[in-house]
Amino acid sequence: MSEPHFDVAEFRRALGAFVTGVTVVTTIQPDGTPRGFTANSFTSVSLDPPLILVCIAKTASSHPVFSKTSHFAVSVLAQDQRPVSGVFASKSTDKFGQVAWHARHTGAPVMDGAAASFDCETHEVVDAGDHIILIGRVVDFTHTSSTPLGYCRGAYVDFSLSQDALAATGQRARVGAILEHQRGLALIETAHGMQLPTGTRLEPQTDPASLRGVLAKHGLDAHLDFLFAVFETEAGREGEVQIFYRGRVVNDVPADGAVRFVPLNEIPWSELRDAAVVSMLRRYVKERTEDAFGIYVGDSSAGMVRSLAL
Ligand SMILES: Cc1cc2nc3c(=O)[nH]c(=O)nc-3n(C[C@H](O)[C@H](O)[C@H](O)COP(=O)(O)O)c2cc1C
Repeated sequence: MSEPHFDVAEFRRALGAFVTGVTVVTTIQPDGTPRGFTANSFTSVSLDPPLILVCIAKTASSHPVFSKTSHFAVSVLAQDQRPVSGVFASKSTDKFGQVAWHARHTGAPVMDGAAASFDCETHEVVDAGDHIILIGRVVDFTHTSSTPLGYCRGAYVDFSLSQDALAATGQRARVGAILEHQRGLALIETAHGMQLPTGTRLEPQTDPASLRGVLAKHGLDAHLDFLFAVFETEAGREGEVQIFYRGRVVNDVPADGAVRFVPLNEIPWSELRDAAVVSMLRRYVKERTEDAFGIYVGDSSAGMVRSLAL
């Protein structure tokens, strides 16, 4: 076997630049007991047939079980499930006694509260160096609106909406949201023209001046998925930090009168007053069109990234 001509530690570090989610891969072993381990090598493979894969180190103690299993499940962990990741990355003999789980269609265990789960029959096991590639054919899946847990450069990535750091600066802030609904982008009609929903801070909903309060007032049930932009603008003599999340409106919005949903190619740019917000929104529309968020909308015929018709 040829030795790699480069430093393995450096190779691992380079691989660590690739941001992933965190999953727990599970099955029921022949004696009827559950088995599982933490993996970030999960990847989607095919839409038709529906295939996913995960790579398992041959040194993992559960490798012999997974190399022969006829079925398994993958739980994509949510933001608050770091402890679950820790349990399944350990050598504990009672991993399943420390977490809440339930069995899915194939009988494989799935973590309660996971952001998504995929219940699979084993499609193929491929030998690959010091790992095996376990390819699963998805027979059932679930997903929720929970923010997923991220992993990069050997550490968990926090996509949470915490504003603690901002609060510590004591700066004036406006917190807004770029929210999409199936009918289009949510804009609020005001006496000063159209604007994105904004507030003086993110929470709580009971504060009518906060973003959550503004959204509630307009009957918008929204999931704020990720931070999209943070920039400073002049507001009077003091600088003002503007913070924008991107997310989705998940309810059927009542005819409030002030909320307008406009398709991304019909944004009334001239009615938006704040130049910095306009430039941010133009970037959003461009990236959304190019699908630069990595929202890979596979097409069953082509498996290509599908652009929005603009
Ligand atoms: C974030 C994270 C990702 C991991 N990804 C993988 C992986 O993709 N494949 C793998 O074999 N081990 C991976 N591991 C290591 C295993 O979880 C760990 O070796 C575990 O102890 C294996 O369990 P077992 O010995 O009971 O089989 C990962 C660990 C962490 C913390």
